[in-house]
Amino acid sequence: MNPVPIRAAIAGTGSYLPEKILTNDDLSKMVDTSDEWIYPRTGIRGRHIAAPGENTSDMAAEAGRRALAAAGAAPEDIDLLVMATISGDKPLPATACLVQEKLGLVNATAFDVLAACSGFLYALDVARQYVRSGAARKVLVVGAEKMSAITDWQDRTTCILFGDGAGAAVVQPAEGGSENGILATCTGTDGSLWPLLNIEAGGSALPASPETLAARRGFVRMDGHTIFKYAVRNMAGIAARAVKEAGLSTSDIDWIVPHQANMRIIQAVAKSMDAPMEKVVANIERTGNTTAASIPVALDEAVRDGRIRPGHNVLFVAFGAGLTWAAGVVRWGL
Ligand code: UT7
Repeated sequence: MNPVPIRAAIAGTGSYLPEKILTNDDLSKMVDTSDEWIYPRTGIRGRHIAAPGENTSDMAAEAGRRALAAAGAAPEDIDLLVMATISGDKPLPATACLVQEKLGLVNATAFDVLAACSGFLYALDVARQYVRSGAARKVLVVGAEKMSAITDWQDRTTCILFGDGAGAAVVQPAEGGSENGILATCTGTDGSLWPLLNIEAGGSALPASPETLAARRGFVRMDGHTIFKYAVRNMAGIAARAVKEAGLSTSDIDWIVPHQANMRIIQAVAKSMDAPMEKVVANIERTGNTTAASIPVALDEAVRDGRIRPGHNVLFVAFGAGLTWAAGVVRWGL
């Protein structure tokens, strides 16, 4: 570790959403639900769904390509790829390896982080620590999911929520003398609460078999009602901690980019910070919950449309299976 840590900053972002859109009305023809039930409870009207044969690594590579271009980085400049996903192409190898090949990141070490909806912020924290210590110069962080492949399309309590997509960011040292960069990253875990949100079968404890397939045990299951309460409490708590660690107060935050799980959770987190909804970046209406992709997709959209500008203080906050939660504060720019 260097005596004076190097400040890490985000040099560019990229995202990708597949073309096909599945609306609430489409869903109402598949399960017993309706737009009237889904939209007021979740804020979701539609979600993007990957094409057949379009895999998590393909979406990740496209988002990564766009982030490299935005950062002005060549593939060979990247020395680390940290990939967050719960819906990787295969159990083995890490999806990061497939993305490394697709992008030609010939000088990069590549590995996956599994922290569900908190995954992008866990990966950002890892990237930040590598850059701070001098162990890496340019890190590509990607969150990508093909949730449609691990969602039970017969279960109306979960299938209304999820969508597919990918987002990415290039993390590198801030410019000398700059005040910009990643000011704080905080993470938390409570493994005792794993039963609230998990996939039962398909791992080594319960390998996939004709019985697990017939019982539909290879899909995401959750206790949504209980998760909701933990989400609000833990996101509010870790957001406050990250703002404090950044040396800021909540009124200094220009933009909140939260995990897009449920509009009511997002509103509750904003309220806990006394922040008006005008400061919140929300695209859940169009994307649904894209798990590890949700924050980098929302971030990229807000950067590209000019809402987030250099010097703005941006708060990220997430919550997901594990249970895991995380937050980060970035003063935007290099
Ligand atoms: O990414 C992080 C992980 N996930 C989350 O953050 C999800 C957090 N939780 C939520 O967003 C909400 O709990 C949900 C949107 C998933 C559900 O909303 P809720 O208000 O907690 O509903 P509920 O599960 O308590 O269900 C209420 C009723 C039930 O009927 P009864 O038992 O009251 O007769 C459900 O069977 O609504 C029924 N229901 C539905 N009805 C129509 C559940 N899903 C549906 C549906 N359409 N899709």
